[in-house]
Amino acid sequence: MIQAPVAENMFKEIMRRLHRFEAKKQDRTALEKAFPVNEDVKEILALLRSVPVPIVPVQELHVRLGFHQPLDYPETSLAKPLTQWKMEIDDAPIFRFLYRSFGPKRHLEFGTWYGAGTVYCLEECDATIWTINLPQGELTPDGTPAYGYGLADIKSVEAWALKIGATISQWGCYRTDTIGFIGRLFLEKGLGNRVCQIYCDSRAWDIHHYPAAFFDTVLIPHKDDVVCYVFWL
Ligand SMILES: C[S@@+](CC[C@H](N)C(=O)[O-])C[C@H]1O[C@@H](n2cnc3c(N)ncnc32)[C@H](O)[C@@H]1O
Repeated sequence: MIQAPVAENMFKEIMRRLHRFEAKKQDRTALEKAFPVNEDVKEILALLRSVPVPIVPVQELHVRLGFHQPLDYPETSLAKPLTQWKMEIDDAPIFRFLYRSFGPKRHLEFGTWYGAGTVYCLEECDATIWTINLPQGELTPDGTPAYGYGLADIKSVEAWALKIGATISQWGCYRTDTIGFIGRLFLEKGLGNRVCQIYCDSRAWDIHHYPAAFFDTVLIPHKDDVVCYVFWL
């Protein structure tokens, strides 16, 4: 168990770095030199990782968060190791439970791809959602698209491409995390009227005119560690 003064110092250090990062974000030249910003983000994440995260069994989640209804979590997911979890099967009931129980009015999502996570929020409560995505999609360090689609999705991706007039990229596939494709699932369901899509690198998002505490919940997916965070504000 981490000692209170240590946790407090760590928290102060994290906040100090976040402020420094924020200060840099205001400065265009610093922003254009993405490397130092990335280094700061890495440092912040390393600090956050060094703080032990409390583990709450799904059966006790409602008690911990003060909700009346418990989560009816599938036995099959409980039996699986975390490394075999699939978001659509094993995380989805938890996300849906959180949105249903908390009922945010304004939800923010960093990185949407085809919008599975956005659909959970849209279907479980009446929130209006803001999403932030790279307009031209993400590339891996070797310069190839970071997001594609599997065999099972080919038909629906092709049908959507026809609808929006998208063409196949130079890599011989549709880029499913680019403008037009981003949020396909909620657009197909006719739920796009509750989503404000922002197209930019999230590190360059201009937040000056958002009032303080504007968002009730925020979803930040973290691909490399296969971890999703939902933060209450
Ligand atoms: C793991 S996917 C999101 C999955 C999604 N939340 C879901 O529910 O299925 C990450 C998304 O973030 C986008 N992305 C990556 N880096 C970004 C950045 N710096 N700014 C904005 N979007 C980014 C990617 O293009 C991709 O669409």
